[in-house]
Amino acid sequence: MKKITIKKIIKQKGKSPICCLTSYTSSITKIIDKYCDIILVGDSLGMVLYGMKTTRDVKLETMIVHAKAVKDSAKRSLVVVDMPYNTYTNKFKAFKNAKKIINSTKCDAVKLEGGKKIFNIIKYLTKKKIPVMGHIGFLPQYESNFARKGQNASQREKILKDALALEEAGVFAIVLECIIQDLAKKITMSIKVPTIGIGSSKYCDGQILVIDDIIGMSGFKPRFVKQYSNISKIIENSVQSYSREVKNKKFPLSNNTYKF
Ligand code: KIV
Repeated sequence: MKKITIKKIIKQKGKSPICCLTSYTSSITKIIDKYCDIILVGDSLGMVLYGMKTTRDVKLETMIVHAKAVKDSAKRSLVVVDMPYNTYTNKFKAFKNAKKIINSTKCDAVKLEGGKKIFNIIKYLTKKKIPVMGHIGFLPQYESNFARKGQNASQREKILKDALALEEAGVFAIVLECIIQDLAKKITMSIKVPTIGIGSSKYCDGQILVIDDIIGMSGFKPRFVKQYSNISKIIENSVQSYSREVKNKKFPLSNNTYKF
């Protein structure tokens, strides 16, 4: 299986939509790897796997454990890891932590939230040969109330400037989160690196969603999520049957038993 490279992702801009999903585990990665261009080990794992209220409590060590599991199981997709909150407050800290993530997981890139404000940090990382994906618009590490972005002129101007700054800092792609359609389109047309949308319309070079949201495991259903299946229900039905059979002594049967 041919491994997807950053060069290939950049070449896909405007030509072939870039398909991205989050994954946090080996088992999910093995299922999604052949359908994705990029797998993101998102810090959304704090909420999705650990029941945290925000992504702010996610630790670097937790990201490393999950990123290693994902990377070891991804034969094809490019694997990007979120740098958690507070791990890139200045360029030296960012480099130390990004290097730790890349060296201990062998993942392909890191993702940082923020625009112009973290220009110097991202520029430093890319100069030191750490591949970086940007993330602008709604920033879960810094905002708790979910809100669409780009509804007024000053916000639009700021977000466009953020995108241009990230491109200049050397990112290979930018996640646009919850940005209204015409601004997402403008950003996508204004920069040379691909935009990956989440709640940011079809006018992006790719799309990303959280795996648990599309399979009905999270119960999180904002407008921009499409739920393709209801795995929670499948699990519940299976557990209900198992419980009934245990209680009625219908499980285990002879063919589930070692007789010698
Ligand atoms: O943490 C995450 O999963 C993300 C994506 C939703 C873009 O940042």
